[in-house]
Amino acid sequence: MKSLYEETYRRSLADPEAFWGAAAEDIVWHRRWDRVLDNARQPFTKWFPGGRLNTCENALDVHVARGRGKQRALIYDSPVTNTVRVWTYAELLDAVARMAGALVRLGIGKGDRVVLYMPMVPEAVMAMLACARIGAVHSVVFGGFAPNELAKRIDDAKPKLILSASCGIEVARVVAYKPLLDQAIELSSHKPQRCVILQRPQARAELVRGRDLDWNDAMTGAAPAECVPVEATDPLYILYTSGTTGIPKGVVHDNGGHAVALKWSMSAIYGLGVGETMFTASDIGWVVGHSYIVYAPLLKGCTTILYEGKPVGTPDPGAFWRLIAQHGANIMFTAPTAFRAIKKEDPNGVHMDKHDLSHFRVLYLAGERCDPDTLHWAEDKLKVPVIDHWWQTETGWPIAANPVGLGMLPVKPGSPTKPVPGYDVRTLDEQGKETAPGQIGSIVLKLPLPPGCLPTLWDNDPGFETSYMSRYPGYYLTGDAGFKDRDGYVYIMSRVDDIINVAGHRLSTGGMEEVLASHPDVAECAVVGVADDLKGEVPVGFVVTKAGVARPDADIVAELVQKVRDTIGPVAAFKTATVVKRLPKTRSGKILRGTVKRIADGVDYTMPATIDDPAILDEITEALKALGYPRKG
Ligand code: COA
Ligand code: AMP
Repeated sequence: MKSLYEETYRRSLADPEAFWGAAAEDIVWHRRWDRVLDNARQPFTKWFPGGRLNTCENALDVHVARGRGKQRALIYDSPVTNTVRVWTYAELLDAVARMAGALVRLGIGKGDRVVLYMPMVPEAVMAMLACARIGAVHSVVFGGFAPNELAKRIDDAKPKLILSASCGIEVARVVAYKPLLDQAIELSSHKPQRCVILQRPQARAELVRGRDLDWNDAMTGAAPAECVPVEATDPLYILYTSGTTGIPKGVVHDNGGHAVALKWSMSAIYGLGVGETMFTASDIGWVVGHSYIVYAPLLKGCTTILYEGKPVGTPDPGAFWRLIAQHGANIMFTAPTAFRAIKKEDPNGVHMDKHDLSHFRVLYLAGERCDPDTLHWAEDKLKVPVIDHWWQTETGWPIAANPVGLGMLPVKPGSPTKPVPGYDVRTLDEQGKETAPGQIGSIVLKLPLPPGCLPTLWDNDPGFETSYMSRYPGYYLTGDAGFKDRDGYVYIMSRVDDIINVAGHRLSTGGMEEVLASHPDVAECAVVGVADDLKGEVPVGFVVTKAGVARPDADIVAELVQKVRDTIGPVAAFKTATVVKRLPKTRSGKILRGTVKRIADGVDYTMPATIDDPAILDEITEALKALGYPRKG
């Protein structure tokens, strides 16, 4: 007999219209869809065309109308400001409706873009929902990005309005956001009409006369706004993510398919019921934050926790356990790197024993490959299932997971388990032929993608086709390489492009190389993601200086490190670079980054047949040794 998972998976692929049509009954619509799926212009799949709904209404109003107004909706827990605040569904609805009214008063309407450059404060969550309420399209930019990156996003999204705050708080360091925002607006060609700034007590921002408004002034006295029904296919948000160059991709998520898929995932994948509590320790600047701090838990009628803190240091490695116990979290979601940080400081899990975790059922990890050591440590210490699941900004929800709500499958360490219903996961070789079980290939998803996944890139249909759809026609290219085993378990091994995952943050080494190459002393360069015990991977730069440059290497390296921090942001964690005489290349001039990575990681490599001069690899090995690589073994 087939398991519930197998049966559900089979149905989702055999008849996607029937499957997702049934799931869509769980959402409140203003107008029913004409068709569940319109795939006439593949790869531009439309889910629920003709349908009209409002995502904010489904996340808030619907629950209040159904009598759950007094239930906790949002808990803001901020050890860095010593604050815990709770909003019930009725209170959150009131706050969001008023904020939406304030946005309308500022001239924001359906289809207008609003950029958020904000720390993890409740006003940020409310602003996302307020945008959704009036049909405006939000684009949240992670606070760890530098002005130059923010400027690129402003130029692409062309927002009428930017919402920001005076500062973020990184453990004990106050990061002033406003000067970064001002610089970004100076750099960008597009200028927003208005900026609304939340003044936090930790830092006061200077306001630009005629452009900037104080948050309280902008919000005070606004009348609550009603929900504006939008087309299912209208964009809910744009989230920029690293591509293969320094130009970020504006990933779009729509309203209808997104609401349907995310709500469905809460029970099927996360096994969570109405009224239960989810704690996702990510940032609203990432897709995990959009989907599982904000939208999915609220669509489901759960309680969600917004945590302004770190896994360690705020104040100790028991922070997560304190939150789980204090707020009664039933499940938690974070990145493996957070667990590696906790394990390093509290290897015996002493801090766990100090808290009552009896309501806690499952830990979910994603964002980077989960090393079996971390998985086993978390299982041993927490004594609950630990689920590694795989997804991307582009999909908005998991592609492969252990679907707890459909019956847990046996865990295989190193694998995020099996494809989630709706996703037809294949591995293809160079020629587009499916690889045999156990054989690595390029991981692709057969079209159509399920609801919730990106319908296109913002204002860039051709970029959507070239980035994802043209390599293997009929398939979406995930950019990950890996394999499926004989049981159909998926294994994600590496990226096929130059993207690296640093502490669960997706970054482009190509983007970093662009920054290094712009230094006046640099002739050529390469950036490689090297294995790191804590962050999974960290970037390491190799530069060749121009002829005649006689300055000390250490000065050049220090400038390069600062330049990446100033241009991309601290989140790049670019701290290591070295000056070398030459870079290893193929005879056709392609830099052998993969080989350099293997040397740095201490992994055996075969001499590339096309290498121009094998002796260069000895020089690179020496340079890496001087930097302390390889670190293991
Ligand atoms: N605003 C401003 N600066 C920020 C920032 C923000 N929102 N977020 C991070 N930064 C800065 C950090 O302060 C740090 O600066 P530093 O170089 O001066 O120390 C830098 O960016 C790198 O940050 P991070 O990668 O977070 O490293 P960390 O050393 O501060 O912390 C961990 C390490 C493991 C504790 C942390 O990375 C973590 O909690 N990771 C979880 C990952 C996650 O949530 N991923 C999302 C996908 S699920
Ligand atoms: P992002 O778009 O920032 O969520 O990053 C997506 C990328 O992170 C994926 O394409 C993978 O390379 C990587 N990733 C996410 N989750 C996992 C996982 N569970 N295992 C391995 N890699 C992962």
